[in-house]
Amino acid sequence: MKHPEIEKRIQDLLSKMTLEEKVGQLHQAGGSIVGAFDLSLEEILTMVQDGRMTEEEAHKMISNAKRDWHEDDLRAGRIGSYLGLVGSEEMNRMQHIAVEETRLGIPLINGFDVIHGFRTITPIPLAESCAWDTDLWERTARMSAEEAAAAGIHMTFSPMADVSKDPRWGRIAESAGEDALLNGLYGEAKVKGYQTDDLTRHDALAACVKHFAAYGAAEGGRDYNRVDMSPQRFEEEYLPSYERAVKAGARAVMPAFNDLSGVPCSVNKKLLTDILRRRWGFDGMTISDANAIAECVNHGIAEDRRDAARQALNAGMDMDMTSGCFLDHVKELVETGEVPMERLDEAVSDILRLKFELGLFDDPYRSGPEQEKAAMLTPAHRALAREAAQRSMVLLRNDGLLPLKAGLRIALAGKLAFEKDEMSGTWAGSYQPGDCKSIQDALDEEHIAYRAVAEDQPLPDCDVFLCAIGEGKNESGEAASRASLELTEADIALLKRLKESGKPVVAVVFAGRPLCLGPAVENADAILMAWHPGVEAGPAILDVLYGRVNPSAKLTAGFPSASGQCPSLYYDHIRTGRPAGKFKYTSKYLDAPVEPLFPFGFGLSYTSFRYSDISAVQTGLGIHAEITVQNIGDRAGDEIVQCYFRDPVARRVRPVRKLAAFEKAALRPGESRRIAFDIPKAAFGYYDQDMNFVIDDGLIEIHIGGNVRDTLQANVDYRSL
Ligand code: NOJ
Repeated sequence: MKHPEIEKRIQDLLSKMTLEEKVGQLHQAGGSIVGAFDLSLEEILTMVQDGRMTEEEAHKMISNAKRDWHEDDLRAGRIGSYLGLVGSEEMNRMQHIAVEETRLGIPLINGFDVIHGFRTITPIPLAESCAWDTDLWERTARMSAEEAAAAGIHMTFSPMADVSKDPRWGRIAESAGEDALLNGLYGEAKVKGYQTDDLTRHDALAACVKHFAAYGAAEGGRDYNRVDMSPQRFEEEYLPSYERAVKAGARAVMPAFNDLSGVPCSVNKKLLTDILRRRWGFDGMTISDANAIAECVNHGIAEDRRDAARQALNAGMDMDMTSGCFLDHVKELVETGEVPMERLDEAVSDILRLKFELGLFDDPYRSGPEQEKAAMLTPAHRALAREAAQRSMVLLRNDGLLPLKAGLRIALAGKLAFEKDEMSGTWAGSYQPGDCKSIQDALDEEHIAYRAVAEDQPLPDCDVFLCAIGEGKNESGEAASRASLELTEADIALLKRLKESGKPVVAVVFAGRPLCLGPAVENADAILMAWHPGVEAGPAILDVLYGRVNPSAKLTAGFPSASGQCPSLYYDHIRTGRPAGKFKYTSKYLDAPVEPLFPFGFGLSYTSFRYSDISAVQTGLGIHAEITVQNIGDRAGDEIVQCYFRDPVARRVRPVRKLAAFEKAALRPGESRRIAFDIPKAAFGYYDQDMNFVIDDGLIEIHIGGNVRDTLQANVDYRSL
């Protein structure tokens, strides 16, 4: 929200700025790597690929290398922001140049991808979303902001609010899964956690909601690919999560790389101006994705970089992340009148506003080396990372083997059980090698003896196999889409080999996306979906396996039976005229089921819950629904109670189910509780063929249960009051 005092200071400053200085504010520069070693970045990457250098060595080399932050450009007022300047000392040095050595002394704003922790890496967002816990999401965001701000960072390119219904897309790892409500709540909690209600705090970060919009719907699950959908679907399924995160107060928004029905988001006026600013009243800063403005030439929407700059700025883009198109061309575009001066002033004002809001003009040096050192990876941070990991792991199968009894002789199989650095997952740019603990590390720490299974040796004598399978950290995330979601042949062979021994097998799955776990179901007695759990991976896994923690997480994206089910796997698909059935001419596959292997909302506990006595009534505000949930097992547990609805007859075909609300109930053995939900009537609304938002009278079905497949039903004859 605009503050009169800040607006006045912006106007004062604007009136003093030259055209060149204004353009300089629009430019975000990245640092180039120079000097310190004799190899080019490409050569280093090749050496890692062909095994001449380990990733750890490369990481060390690159992070110790000097970066050129283009000081002369900064001095000349040609840089308004940096991408990825990590370290308070270096940041203060650059800030000093901006504040002391430029004509107007405008401070820099420094942005970085703090996605799931800064130094203390927490579970990847897809994992953390499975906790269905807004308080946890906010607390981990707060922790990452404390660490990142101490390292000289002012803004994080997070939260990602992209609804992700296709697990082939590698960036599903960065999302809260396939549901709009969950992505919105996740984004909202992250914004609150990063920003607090006072951005001038030294431990606050500005949040940047991305990737606006519908990046998660990239065709074929292929990164950067086209997105084409009906306006109704866009409004109902994809926009709400960004809206919620923006309205939580996020001060920046990043348009997506992709085109949306033919218009790249970077030059999409409808998105950047009509929806974001006019409809939602956003008055923060927009910043392109990396090089995305220049890439509008590749899209074939701009003739050249100059034309791309013109279109992006006129559409409502404020800052150019690293492409240099604004820096090179905006002066001339304004001089020729192709970009109105008012639009340039607006963009500069948005950027200055955020700098004022962060307090950077009055207080440009927000951290120093001592604060930085003290903030990182503290015992309290490790404890929170462990809690987050415990709450994010989903127990997918358990034939009674878990929790493991103390004293069982363990054999450890699968390379991921030993590889600590794979545990960080994607987007862990400030992670330090060795910070994470593997399963092996945790067993060692707890002095639990184990034998390691070697490929070329007979199987060790043991009581139970712990078998790690799945993906490493680079197999999901940006530019890491997959055509096949099947387990590797090596993983399947390992599972079979262990199963043939006759000893029980626990499969621990690491991944940044849902995978086809059929072979694990066939060969393992228990399956724990651990995702990429972060620095406390191993300890948290043992907490769950040994029953010190009762698992409570539930899937926020369904798991496929076969890769070919994508992209039609998601739970809130609309109804067809021929729903899948035994009859041949129904909507199904010849060679795979239609249903996911594990449905949305699914996750087991070491106790069981019984649902009964569902009721639902209309109220003035919407629908009030209740259900009784009882813990019928012999240990305490948390149950994520999910409330869905279905509109059986409407003017447009509606989803088979839609998540409306949820609550996590902590129940002691035998305890039962009435859980109530108030669903606002707007939740039942949708867009008709002419794009009118309508709420129909008529039957609404309420379905409540422990996952989308197992629910009880109550009906409400809904009438507009
Ligand atoms: C590209 C990614 O798409 C975006 O999410 C990220 O914030 C920027 N690069 C900056 O690293």
